[in-house]
Amino acid sequence: MEKLVYCTENSETELFIGKPWYEIGDHIDISNTIIITDSNIHSIYGDNFPSCPVITIDPGEQTKSITTVESIVEQLLEKGCDRTSFLLGIGGGVICDITGFVASVYMRGVNFGFISTTLLSQVDASTGGKNGVNSGVNKNIIGCINQPSFVICDPEMLKSLPEEEYISGLGELVKHAFIRDAGLLGFIEENIGSILNRDHNLLTTLISASVKIKIDIVTSDEKERGIRRLLNFGHTIGHAVEIELGMKHGFAVSYGMLMAAQISVEMGLLDRNELGRIETVLNKLKLLTDIPQELPDVTEAILKDKKVEKNKIFFVLLEGIGNGVIREIRTDDLVGIIKNKK
Ligand code: GLY
Repeated sequence: MEKLVYCTENSETELFIGKPWYEIGDHIDISNTIIITDSNIHSIYGDNFPSCPVITIDPGEQTKSITTVESIVEQLLEKGCDRTSFLLGIGGGVICDITGFVASVYMRGVNFGFISTTLLSQVDASTGGKNGVNSGVNKNIIGCINQPSFVICDPEMLKSLPEEEYISGLGELVKHAFIRDAGLLGFIEENIGSILNRDHNLLTTLISASVKIKIDIVTSDEKERGIRRLLNFGHTIGHAVEIELGMKHGFAVSYGMLMAAQISVEMGLLDRNELGRIETVLNKLKLLTDIPQELPDVTEAILKDKKVEKNKIFFVLLEGIGNGVIREIRTDDLVGIIKNKK
């Protein structure tokens, strides 16, 4: 088990990686905690939940709406929750995003923590404090940044994930290596078989290494005014493809990272061998299986991206593996570069 602690302006967050999730009683006062989960997680793990009131929502991205927030708030009121209550989200990215958001606004804020049940949320969504819901096709457009008190990441829970869901999480994990840590990429390359077999100890090591990179970035720039933009590597094109083609997040981001790496080569920042290495590792991790033959028209999705500011976007490129760099590009120019690649 690895314990990491990170501090931001107003908070301290403890991360327990490799800790059995059912030891949650060490971290909460069960007489004052409400669990928020989805029906899938509840059916798998519900029998072993601590004896707290449970609010169960439907699984899936379509639940991440303001309507769900209102429904949870009503249920919290019915259960008599006050400003001292603690919200425990048990689930993947959707549960973490909604629980963090509800906790941030309920009675102007209550404390919260997560048991993170998917690889995608263990290496990304549960850490860093981004909380929120979608509005129509606009992802995470209503939200806030507010850190959880703790996050428990138990790799044993990843064993029951569908293959596609697990592989999708590897996309965000390898992203951290691409932007910050060539050594981690080497370690991933040497352990592809054990990664695909979901080896418990290896996952504890990898999730810790990946999350360390994320918290190092988040603690320097919690509000994403600068260096945190690095975490968006692959996401501008990735989000657009995710919306247009309905691909799973990690696959779409992997496609976006490959495109961004190709653009980095064209700009003379990355050499062709490094691009080849990136493509090979993404292929070996089975992240490029869904690659569209032809890139759909992503213009509209890019223009609507919430990261666009005054017709410009901060686009992440690689100046060598392990060294992500942020460049401000006019959205028209970026759309032109992407169209030329078709
Ligand atoms: N998922 C990117 C971030 O937390 O900034």
